[in-house]
Amino acid sequence: MPALRLRLGLLRRGRKGDEEQSEEREEETEAKTKPAADVLGVAPTFAAITAAKLLNTRDYDEVESYPLEEPWVYARILRHKQTSEYIYYVYEIPLTPRERQLYSQIMDALYWEIQPPPGDVDTITYFYREARRIVRTFQIRMGRTPGISWRKILYYVTRDAVGFGPIDPLMKDPEIEDISCNGVRRHIYVWHRRYEYIKTNIIFDREDDLDNLVVKLAHMGGKHISVAFPVVDAILPGGHRLAATYRKEVTTSGSTFTIRKFREDPLTIVDMVMGNTLSPDIAAYYWVLMEHKRPGMVMGVTGSGKTTTMNALLTLLKPSVKVVSIEDTPELKLPLENWVQLIPRMSYGFGAEGRNEITLYDLIRISLRYRPDIIVVGEVRGEEAYVLFQAIATGHGGMTTLHAENIDAAAKRLTSPPMNIPRGYIPLMNFALLIRRVEIVDRETKRTRIARRITYTWEIRDFGNYVVVHKWNAYTDEHETYFDKSFLLKHIMDLVGWSEDELRNELNRRSTVIRWLAAKRMRSYHDVARVVREYYQNPERVYNKAVSELSEMGSGAEGVSLI
Ligand SMILES: Nc1ncnc2c1ncn2[C@@H]1O[C@H](COP(=O)(O)OP(=O)(O)OP(=O)(O)O)[C@@H](O)[C@H]1O
Ligand SMILES: [Mg+2]
Repeated sequence: MPALRLRLGLLRRGRKGDEEQSEEREEETEAKTKPAADVLGVAPTFAAITAAKLLNTRDYDEVESYPLEEPWVYARILRHKQTSEYIYYVYEIPLTPRERQLYSQIMDALYWEIQPPPGDVDTITYFYREARRIVRTFQIRMGRTPGISWRKILYYVTRDAVGFGPIDPLMKDPEIEDISCNGVRRHIYVWHRRYEYIKTNIIFDREDDLDNLVVKLAHMGGKHISVAFPVVDAILPGGHRLAATYRKEVTTSGSTFTIRKFREDPLTIVDMVMGNTLSPDIAAYYWVLMEHKRPGMVMGVTGSGKTTTMNALLTLLKPSVKVVSIEDTPELKLPLENWVQLIPRMSYGFGAEGRNEITLYDLIRISLRYRPDIIVVGEVRGEEAYVLFQAIATGHGGMTTLHAENIDAAAKRLTSPPMNIPRGYIPLMNFALLIRRVEIVDRETKRTRIARRITYTWEIRDFGNYVVVHKWNAYTDEHETYFDKSFLLKHIMDLVGWSEDELRNELNRRSTVIRWLAAKRMRSYHDVARVVREYYQNPERVYNKAVSELSEMGSGAEGVSLI
């Protein structure tokens, strides 16, 4: 490890002769390889230590504050005394000038020194370990250093080398769903679960710092971004979805990026019931539809929760079902053994030929060869929609999300260019639901808050003929069901040979199981997947357990109303 040795030597002796010599040798090294750069995308100039601006907090009232990584960084929600504007204020304990110097030297050492990790080691863990080792080596070499906090330096080094740099605090906050940077010298905005879109105090003043961050993010997602390829769509470590642009190639405001954060532990149907996005009865209804592989569509506007809802519904499938999913970026997380996740590949060629490109359309076509029970398409937008509908026409199950605000607009979009689905194909999608972000007014406090609600569920008889089987009542914030109108349930009843009572019992059992999970807060993805699996094996046993535990908690099993 020549460079580190040189730098440490420099620190120890600080003699001019050595310095000159070491600079020469560094240049040599520079000309050769940058192993860490390949993996980390960290440039030595990446020392935008703080993009979080200090504010005159006297102009603001603090609404709340919470630690993001104690004791180094905190989130404070502030409200301006005059304008009432909210701000998400990232407060990081600042480095002293001396600590900042050491930080830069350590970052340099890290950048030049470390080799790509051995194959079997997780990259992040490896670099974290290396960062710690290098900080420790500096510390030992320097001996007693009063006034210097090495742990603080390590915080910044790991934040910038292994983490997401100056936006790392935002990535750490579980309340934040989206992060968007619209260019240089502009405030970064976040979508916060309690405050919606809210401005942060993070601003990149220098184009280089923002460009470097975008390059780093693209690298972290295993992609390349440059003047020649100025647009990137990638998945960051941890599953976060990144879209980024580089410099002023395709924007007027310099590099931009937006990150949709991924939940390691995705929202489940039980979370959705606990948050009243839907009711246990509707969850039971979807569960029956899922078991019988009825094709459906999740509709909503950008960021409304379409993918999350589809994921939650697909978790209700029988575990033995074979699923092929096709997504632009892999967002789904399903507890299924027999699941193939396909992702399109962009073209790396120049010109209009799109050589080597593998599109959603190609993948849906190939997916049929996998003999799936269900084909899941992340989102339909273009000609691939037609292939999906054809697959459903030939007896496959299917699910997709669609950007639309209501069922009529959805049907219109599907039947117009570029999707061009014939009207006669529309009822191949048996059902559709609409998820929305809505404002809920708390009756007592009169305060409004943002929540997700599935506001409608339709069964699709024909183009233009939709049966409302569920509707959310905005006034009472309750979900109303009209299952007596459901032709899909009747169809399933005929198929399975259930009487109306038996159907009601089945819905009732599933609704009770969901209520039980919600009451017990057994909401995690693993819990839900396990109980669904057990239910398919032995419905009576799971139901009885649910009833007995609910009654212990003082809550009975209510019946599902078909009327
Ligand atoms: N029912 C819900 N309750 C609370 N939060 C939710 C709910 N559904 C989704 N979310 C959150 O909303 C964010 C957006 O969700 P999701 O990615 O599913 O939206 P989308 O409609 O698929 O977005 P896009 O249009 O970008 O594909 C995520 O952070 C997710 O955790
Ligand atoms: Mg989505």
